[in-house]
Amino acid sequence: MGYQKALTALLLGAGAGLIDARPASQWDLARHDHHDSHKHKSFTFSFPSSDPTGSISSIPLGTGSATIPSGTAVVPSGTAVVPSGTGISVVTSEKSKKSNSSASSSASAATAATTASSGCTFTDADSAIASKASCSSIVLKDITVPAETTLDMTDLADGTTVTFEGTTTFEYAEWKGPLISFSGKQLTITGAADHVIDGNGAKWWDGEGSNGGKTKPKFFYAHSMTDSTISNLNIKNYPVQCFSINGAENLSVKDVTIDNSAGDETNSDGDALGHNTDAFDVGSSTGVYISGATVKNQDDCLAINSGTDISFTGASCSGGHGISIGSVGGRDDNDVANVYIADSTISDSQNGVRIKTVYDATGSVKNVTYTGITLSGITKYGIVIEQDYENGSPTGTPTDGVPITDLTVSDVTGTVTDDAEEVYILCASGACSDWTWSGVSVTGGEASSKCEGVPDGASC
Ligand SMILES: *[C@@H]1O[C@H](CO)[C@@H](O)[C@H](O)[C@H]1NC(C)=O
Ligand SMILES: *[C@@H]1O[C@H](CO)[C@@H](O)[C@H](O)[C@H]1NC(C)=O
Ligand SMILES: *[C@@H]1O[C@H](CO)[C@@H](O)[C@H](O)[C@H]1NC(C)=O
Repeated sequence: MGYQKALTALLLGAGAGLIDARPASQWDLARHDHHDSHKHKSFTFSFPSSDPTGSISSIPLGTGSATIPSGTAVVPSGTAVVPSGTGISVVTSEKSKKSNSSASSSASAATAATTASSGCTFTDADSAIASKASCSSIVLKDITVPAETTLDMTDLADGTTVTFEGTTTFEYAEWKGPLISFSGKQLTITGAADHVIDGNGAKWWDGEGSNGGKTKPKFFYAHSMTDSTISNLNIKNYPVQCFSINGAENLSVKDVTIDNSAGDETNSDGDALGHNTDAFDVGSSTGVYISGATVKNQDDCLAINSGTDISFTGASCSGGHGISIGSVGGRDDNDVANVYIADSTISDSQNGVRIKTVYDATGSVKNVTYTGITLSGITKYGIVIEQDYENGSPTGTPTDGVPITDLTVSDVTGTVTDDAEEVYILCASGACSDWTWSGVSVTGGEASSKCEGVPDGASC
């Protein structure tokens, strides 16, 4: 790892314990104080070359930040700003590295909260939650989250990196969740090689999803994330819906693996135990870019309820209900625009491409592109676009309150099973317009006999 390169110290409680705290003098710091104002002073510091790997990771009773220049056998140095009149002592990260444990892993939550550092490794949820705001780089290592607890990583400091390491899992209780929650700006959320986030879903799976049976916790809230990236997470066995992306601005989700295939196991009625296990639900967001997702589940691979500038590319979806927009209508936010769904495969799923809007509701679906989608083993509809949903089911009667306009469907090819319908379109009169279809070839099933309101360009 080298030096801890960044230092962030927050206001800390006077009585709180410190890990290996020593007065600065004992570390032989070259320290020079400057008075910047009547309220704050800054000090510069450097370590002597005899202790070249030391770094400041905490300043009690202070607030400030410093950057320690990178380099090998150089003397780390930097500047920190603290309130005037406070004594400064320094915690180095070197000591804890020698004992081969992180600054916080052996510490109580209260102590961990005092290490405002770029190297915060946590092995329990409470410590991580207590200390999150004072860490610029958080490692969540082998955490078992207690029942009825959210691994609450909301309101992280701007620019925080969070890495899941080892196995993250969750104790069972009937409650609404979420099990994991993030918010913040310029966050980087990722997973170390071989990590797994295991939702322990089999404890909840009863074939009823969110329609009944056990109360099941939602899984991963990515709410109010701005200019942030979630990448390389390896998720399995979540109880019910996986990612809830809401209020996001410029959020990238890259190379996430979501494997809920264990939920395909059936109950005595022959229903899959995993139900309503949507992989990505997106609402009220501007700029969500999901790429390279691998999904095995029992409901939508993607469901966009509202939002603008959303892309979903390079995905592999299987076992579920397809790549969906909707249902749109009947919520606070009912407008979907500028969606680009491309270069993805959908296999062994109920539907391939799907857009559904709500009966008697208002809203809009505008400028949506599906291109380069390969289908196989689709059991209900290869392509389905319908304006008749009510309470989660089709009514057969479309209404025109949520028009679907500027829709491009190109290079959507592949096969459905023999009793599936290849393409089904049900639009209210005039409520679907400006559609461009090209290279659409869905074969292996039946032509639909129920199509209505099919706009020029499309064929049913
Ligand atoms: C120290 O930690 C490293 C990295 O986690 C690990 O590879 C190594 O085996 C550990 N050494 C001891 C003595 O625990
Ligand atoms: C979007 O977020 C990425 C990653 O945080 C960042 O590099 C990029 O500059 C952001 N773009 C805009 C338009 O804010
Ligand atoms: C339509 O959506 C695409 C993204 O698929 C976007 O690049 C384009 O600017 C949008 N067009 C309009 C007119 O907003």
